[in-house]
Amino acid sequence: MRIQYLGHSCFLVETGGFRVIFDPFISPNPLAEGIKVEDLEVDYVILSHAHEDHVFDAEAILKKCEATLISNWEICTYYSKKGIEKVHPMNQGGKWSFDFGTVKAVGAWHSSSFADGTYGGNPMGFVIETGDKCFYFAGDTALSYDMRLISDQYHLDFAFLPIGDNFTMDIRDAVVAANYVGTKKVIGMHYDTFPYIEIDQIEADMVARRAEIDLILMQVKQTIEIK
Ligand code: NI
Ligand code: MN
Repeated sequence: MRIQYLGHSCFLVETGGFRVIFDPFISPNPLAEGIKVEDLEVDYVILSHAHEDHVFDAEAILKKCEATLISNWEICTYYSKKGIEKVHPMNQGGKWSFDFGTVKAVGAWHSSSFADGTYGGNPMGFVIETGDKCFYFAGDTALSYDMRLISDQYHLDFAFLPIGDNFTMDIRDAVVAANYVGTKKVIGMHYDTFPYIEIDQIEADMVARRAEIDLILMQVKQTIEIK
């Protein structure tokens, strides 16, 4: 499985010949400078919630790629009204098998509204099982005891967890979350994009190391292979 970091909470995951993008916030992100949204080729767009720093480029990508949107009911309806035809609405607790893998929508402790004030449904995280890997994309969330349910039901290879604090978990909560969901490998997200979520990366690394968590902080545009 190949993973490319496109800044903030946006990742492009390639698995089994399919390309899935999470939470695209690229064109307004100075840290993602040089990435051209119009050059992206994806089959699916997965949105965790409606906040602008997770959906900004979703409409452009969905239209250009004729990709399928996977999100909650309200977010799918919002984009349907904008002319997006391929949508697959889900809600917390539900699971669906797509051609790239099975997606289980799980809860997230956060909020969800569009920049124009439209209600964005409940925020979600996702547990995704593909042919080769199983991972958790947490979206924006607080630490929650419910995360333990994920390790009861899945054996994760890794997890995308927010670590920027203020709007979500910080690294200390994220290492607890990693234990709850049952993985030692964490790809950090939702940090350093804005002053509110600037972190000390060296300190984050130390906190993770002490908890015996392998914390991966990817460079924007970097691609890694998860084996
Ligand atoms: Ni948010
Ligand atoms: Mn956010």
